[in-house]
Amino acid sequence: MGVTNDIIYVGVNDHKIDLFEGQYIVPNGMAYNSYLIMDEKIAIMDTVDRNFTHEWLDNLEKALQGRKPDYLVVQHMEPDHSANIANFVKTYPDAKIVSSQKAFVMMNQFFGTDFADRQVVVAEGSTLELGKHVLNFVAAPMVHWPEVIMTYDSTDKVLFSADGFGKFGALDVEEDWACEARRYYIGIVGKYGAQVQAVLKKAANLDIQIICPLHGPVLKENLGYYIGLYQTWSTYQQETEGIVIAYTSVYGNTKKAVEKLADLLKEKGCPKVVVNDLARCDMAEAVEDAFRYGKIILATTTYNAEIFPFMREFINHLTERNFSNKKVGLIENGTWAPMAAKVMTGMLEKCKNLTFADNTVHIKSALNDESNAQLEALAEEFCGEYQARAAETADKNDLRALFNIGYGLYVVTTNDGKKDNGCIVNTVTQVTSSPNRVAVTINKDNYTHHVVEQSGIMNVNCLSVEAPFSVFEKYGFQSGRSVDKLADVEELRSDNGLRFLPQYINAFFSLKVENYVDLGTHGMFICSITESRVITKAETMTYTYYQNNVKPKPETEGKKGYVCKVCGYVYEGDELPDDFVCPLCKHGAADFEPIG
Ligand code: FEO
Repeated sequence: MGVTNDIIYVGVNDHKIDLFEGQYIVPNGMAYNSYLIMDEKIAIMDTVDRNFTHEWLDNLEKALQGRKPDYLVVQHMEPDHSANIANFVKTYPDAKIVSSQKAFVMMNQFFGTDFADRQVVVAEGSTLELGKHVLNFVAAPMVHWPEVIMTYDSTDKVLFSADGFGKFGALDVEEDWACEARRYYIGIVGKYGAQVQAVLKKAANLDIQIICPLHGPVLKENLGYYIGLYQTWSTYQQETEGIVIAYTSVYGNTKKAVEKLADLLKEKGCPKVVVNDLARCDMAEAVEDAFRYGKIILATTTYNAEIFPFMREFINHLTERNFSNKKVGLIENGTWAPMAAKVMTGMLEKCKNLTFADNTVHIKSALNDESNAQLEALAEEFCGEYQARAAETADKNDLRALFNIGYGLYVVTTNDGKKDNGCIVNTVTQVTSSPNRVAVTINKDNYTHHVVEQSGIMNVNCLSVEAPFSVFEKYGFQSGRSVDKLADVEELRSDNGLRFLPQYINAFFSLKVENYVDLGTHGMFICSITESRVITKAETMTYTYYQNNVKPKPETEGKKGYVCKVCGYVYEGDELPDDFVCPLCKHGAADFEPIG
């Protein structure tokens, strides 16, 4: 088979193989690729598996057309490619072996000799001239052994990619590339995403027209598709939208829960639900699915104070391949002392960027009303985004969306002619850049609104993430009419005579009011900047950061009622009056939410 005018395929198909690499079933066999580059000098790219010595040597002999090879390039020492190095040397005693230093060490281990009399050691950046073809070597350590080199023929623009871009399956069987390439990649190279990324970066600088891997077909068209998939796989990103449920079940009760969950997920708009029974499916396929989809739900039983063995094996496969960037849900079953959810969480704790679902399903032997409700809640949590995306199921008046606008938090300082004042606002926006204008919107109930209306100036102090809760208590939960908020604060003034804060800010602006927009409950001051200083490099305090890291968690344990989302004040009672005003921060009933 001609790859180009000068490059000839001399590899073999293996349909007798039991398990590839001793563990992977390969229903459509396997291909061990080898290539011959015909030029003034002749190079052979890799050998094949030990069961195909003579078929390969016959292929070589035929392609050589009476000539003798000058070089055997050994890109990878795993025996499916290197097993016939010694046989090659016996057949072609004048040929040299071109490989990395590490590969020659491995040859010594495999064959008892490192072929010192015919070694040509190459490394990153080395070249080998064959005539019009020049081979450029690219180090590709851990893709997927440490000695691997890839080879770029700059004449025909061919990348010989070693195991990269390989797949399970012999070449005389027609099948989808991605399915078996993904199972191969995740199973065999999945752990080495960072190393694959390094090679992809090098490849991006090469003009590649053809990829010749050591397994699977030669890739000649649409290379962006294959490289794009490698980009996704090696960065552990979601390839396909959907949810995988991986489960084990001893007597069928966990299976029943999984089947019910699968139905719920489909009903709630999940575009693809994949269910794998880990005791019966191909484990490599289940592992592949776990990496392919963005969300996974693990369901298993407690077993020997641990988890069922197939689930343990499955999670080990995930963690040893750097499983990351997923949403994870858990279903546990146990008749006494259930532990499965805890054990699974512990096994996954070192994985990067996993988001565990708020809802976990706890089955005690068999589904009941409580665990059915938990299944429903888990399905709702996993499918919320699908429902929100679809026009038919979306809540189109969900005003919680407003909380997702990113706000900073600021102290606006003013002076009413008698005393300095400061108040917290979260509504500061730069609205134009030429000239620079800033809009500050303030509730008319705040004394600060009145003072700015009168004075026409203010300072906006940009709070940094270093600001403690006491800053919010001081400037946010009391009125400047009755309290001198800045009495105990070191006095620092900007050129407009107003105070700026000595601590917990990363910048401040002095603003002069140019325009005022009456917004009913609030007034918007559109201002020019008269002074602006950067104080520190600390990050700006956002509303989200305040909520997650600064505001003390409200003590709602054992209480019934409502909690203020702004300051955490707890109102105990069955009904919150509509006109209720928080005694701490003065926010109204709209800023309260029910406890629990
Ligand atoms: Fe195809 Fe890593 O051997």
